[in-house]
Amino acid sequence: MISLHKLIRPALMRMDEESSHRLAIRLLSKISDNGRLTVLEELLVGDRVPALPVKALGTQFQNPVGLAAGFDKDGLAFPALAGMGFGSIELGTVTPSPQLGNPGKRIFRIIDDQAIINRLGFNSCGLDAFVLNLEKIKSSPRATVLGVNIGKNTNTPNERATMDYVRCFKGVYRYADYIAVNVSSPNSPGLRDLQNVARLDELLEAITQERVNLAPAHAGKTVPIALKISPELETKDIEAIVEIAANRKVDAIIATNTTVTRPTYGTHKNYKENGGLSGKPLREMSTQVIRTASKVAGNSMVIIGTGGISSAEDAWDKILAGADLLQLYTSFVYQGTSVVKDIVVGLADLARQYDSENFQSAIEQARQKQSRSGT
Ligand code: FNR
Repeated sequence: MISLHKLIRPALMRMDEESSHRLAIRLLSKISDNGRLTVLEELLVGDRVPALPVKALGTQFQNPVGLAAGFDKDGLAFPALAGMGFGSIELGTVTPSPQLGNPGKRIFRIIDDQAIINRLGFNSCGLDAFVLNLEKIKSSPRATVLGVNIGKNTNTPNERATMDYVRCFKGVYRYADYIAVNVSSPNSPGLRDLQNVARLDELLEAITQERVNLAPAHAGKTVPIALKISPELETKDIEAIVEIAANRKVDAIIATNTTVTRPTYGTHKNYKENGGLSGKPLREMSTQVIRTASKVAGNSMVIIGTGGISSAEDAWDKILAGADLLQLYTSFVYQGTSVVKDIVVGLADLARQYDSENFQSAIEQARQKQSRSGT
């Protein structure tokens, strides 16, 4: 079966990074508008992704592999992306008012290392337009979990950040299966300071209180809240953040966003570019954060592992470190749509070595085996 991505990838890779991304979104949003998903699935995916169900966040994910935030920032292409077999898709980051993000060239590929550096700075169509896009998705029945990632406008000082987040939270509440609070993008100046304990506690208190206020008007629907954190945090900071989140009844931690650090082996000229690094060089860093967050969270929160996942083995490593669900972005850019199926099939194979009735109990067994062997 032909994969459309395989056909157009060489052309996309020759184009400037942001132009090729824009073209991909334009194409996918056209297909989404047409709603011709059956043909699309064949063209885009080639083969269907087998089911590997995971129950988490009060819902069923058809498989644990999600698309991370930032690919479809404005919510234009959900149906087409869902047709590629992702278990979940996180739209956004959306900011309250529209904003352009940083000027100039702002995405850089490092092909040899399967990495990307971006300093987009929350380019967003703004909440009102975003909600209109969500409105189009809402009516169609969906098997793919829809997350929305929310942020603040660049010119909103941190002292007033809570208002921005609460505004976005309210706006997207009725459409989202979960809402991710992004306090970890390195490209919005000062944003990561919102991870400081006092600020974070205030922010999470306001958002969780807003959820209590909103639920009655939405037939009691309580939308799970996820907190997306940075990979550079020190162990004690991760521990403090996870404790605060658990106390505030946050449902999930997404670990991690992109990193401002650079690998020691990185010789490519693009490593000198400012911005957040994603892909393979981020993988181990993010796995360490997952491990720490999972230890503190225990069973109180779901851990969504993201950062450098490009194969089933990478995904399994994150699961053994404590991730319940997974997200990827950079490997989707390099490998295309087949990455979802490859990882899901590979995970099912890895789980099969445990004599268990389903994927989640295989994970339990694998983690127990790991802790017994002390690795
Ligand atoms: C991102 N990421 C991101 N994260 C987020 O919370 N909001 C966003 O708007 C964006 N935007 C964005 C743009 C681009 C071009 C990239 C490459 C990444 C981060 C992303 O969601 C993910 O956390 C990291 O990229 C790590 O995963 P991968 O890419 O290593 O699989």
